[in-house]
Amino acid sequence: MNNKEKPTSLEDIPAALRDISTSPKTSSPNLQLIILGVGGSIVMILVGIGVMRLFSPSEPVISDLSPTPNLSPSPIPTPAPEEIENILGHLRYEEASPDQLKSITNDGRIKLRTKAADSFLKMQRDARANGIILTPISGFRTVDQQNYLFFEIQRQRNQNPSKRAEVSAPPKYSEHHTGYAIDIGDGKVPGTNLSENFEKTPAFRWLENNAAKYSFELSFPANNPQNISYEPWHWRYVGDPHSLETFYKAQQLQKESSVDVNKVD
Ligand code: DAL
Ligand code: ZN
Repeated sequence: MNNKEKPTSLEDIPAALRDISTSPKTSSPNLQLIILGVGGSIVMILVGIGVMRLFSPSEPVISDLSPTPNLSPSPIPTPAPEEIENILGHLRYEEASPDQLKSITNDGRIKLRTKAADSFLKMQRDARANGIILTPISGFRTVDQQNYLFFEIQRQRNQNPSKRAEVSAPPKYSEHHTGYAIDIGDGKVPGTNLSENFEKTPAFRWLENNAAKYSFELSFPANNPQNISYEPWHWRYVGDPHSLETFYKAQQLQKESSVDVNKVD
């Protein structure tokens, strides 16, 4: 609010507010003081709100690159399940509990289920011996973290939920909740992180030829039956009964679609 709008005299108060008696000239000085007092208080409150907004910290800007954003409490309200149900072909997954997870980075920020973590670390060591740097970008994510990633970026990009779901799983539908999924980058070509160009890197080619030996498979190849965008960086562990059970439905969809593609009449 600027000074022009600030009522400094009775004449600055709109006539409609002033005309409370039949004759303003005959109104008592006390009444004028009350009007000025009320008007002044409103101005002070509005100015106070403006100043508070000016100095409040801006909202954090996050990107898909944020591996495990520290989000407490989530500023985004959890939507009702029916609002996000059946968005594209995302499947629902259970969140792993903290005691099932193991860190795969020195700073402890990126975690996987213990068996997936051990297998990834071995794969990373063997790749390094071949001159390939496999960089973990994101591993386990809680439903709250996915809630923030999905809806906050959707808001920042002004997208509707369906559009956002083409490239990100809604909360409760991310493979990252399981602790078995990992986003991997090429440490020598970080500019390709989380981009389709990752498929042109030596790291991706190495993974294509070797990941299966460590029980990792690509979750979302091009033209996948779930209709989710191609994600050459996103790999899931399928090396024990629980992980196989977890991804049974997704693997069945994949198998059915390859049978359809290969079917010859
Ligand atoms: N990024 C994939 C869609 C997931 O989170 O499951
Ligand atoms: Zn991922």
